[in-house]
Amino acid sequence: MNGLQSWPEPIVRVQSLAERGGKFIPPRYVKPLCDRPSKLNFEGSDGDNNNIPIIDMQNLNSKNPTLREETLALISRACREWGFFQVINHGVSTEIMARTREAWRAFFRLPVEMKQQYSNSPTTYEGYGSRLGVEKGAKLDWSDYFFLHLLPTSLRDQNKWPHFATSCRETIGQYGDEVTKLCEILMKIFSVNLGLKEDALEEAFGGEEVGACLRVNYYPKCPQPDLALGLSPHSDPGGMTILLPDHDVPGLQVRRGDGWITVKPAPNAFIVNIGDQIQVISNANYKSVEHRVIVNSEKERVSLAFFYNPKGDIVIKPSDELVGEDRPPLYPNMTFNEYRVYIRTRGPCGKSQVESLKLPICPS
Ligand code: OGA
Ligand code: NI
Repeated sequence: MNGLQSWPEPIVRVQSLAERGGKFIPPRYVKPLCDRPSKLNFEGSDGDNNNIPIIDMQNLNSKNPTLREETLALISRACREWGFFQVINHGVSTEIMARTREAWRAFFRLPVEMKQQYSNSPTTYEGYGSRLGVEKGAKLDWSDYFFLHLLPTSLRDQNKWPHFATSCRETIGQYGDEVTKLCEILMKIFSVNLGLKEDALEEAFGGEEVGACLRVNYYPKCPQPDLALGLSPHSDPGGMTILLPDHDVPGLQVRRGDGWITVKPAPNAFIVNIGDQIQVISNANYKSVEHRVIVNSEKERVSLAFFYNPKGDIVIKPSDELVGEDRPPLYPNMTFNEYRVYIRTRGPCGKSQVESLKLPICPS
């Protein structure tokens, strides 16, 4: 028994709290002073530093080899220096993006009693949830979510997906298939950029048996946005994340030095970020960067986070080609199943997880 059978306290839907319309948020959602979103970030500073890089993926198919090389180099830099970038002209149809987003907005508009039939538990997290982590008395984030598995197909259980409209399961499945294709392309690009053979990362992830899941985040309006967070600082535990942000409500902030940068999404873009498992395989050449979500009192926000993950029971370790005398392996061998127990128990907690695993480096 791993202690993850049930939530430690009755679940309160943040959406219900928000809809009550009170002026104050319950103490459970008030973050300690040092964790509150401050207005102090890099906004206003000019140049490349006030937004994550934007990559036009169409340039990878250009007849001009220089343009192709430059685009690969931009992606490489983004993975090393930011851990985050936006992609445009990424090949996923804007129609399916819009349709999927609308399906999820419709889900969260359903009466709470209807959503409750999908309530999740911390054993699998599948379904409708309102907290991450099972620590009793923990401060909570100002968000609800829906979590489901897309891959491997043996875990794709459509009976657990919303079915309030006939086409909704089909839409979610199609969206998953298209975003998976984008991930397969990015995995090849990352492999080549790391100096590995094209299929290296996909193979390290378990080939045919990679995992993929979707977490749809719902951030209701918050009457005291300066005291709360929509999602606490964390790095994504999996391989990589493809986020469809809300097109008109900002909220995602990415760690840059001591501050946070608020991402300004480009039209029809996805936000791509490196997760802890690719940081490990790349032996820390690529960074899984801390991020968080702030809330506001004006507008709710919906985002779709697609997590592309290694097969659960395959051993993840720094790639042999990226380990040498001058660069010892920085992480121990561990499966993704072993790794994610940690976040499922403790909830989002900065970058502490992957950092705590770092092997001591001996000077000789
Ligand atoms: C996540 C995440 C960001 C967002 O779900 O892991 O970081 O903008 N989401 O909702
Ligand atoms: Ni995240």
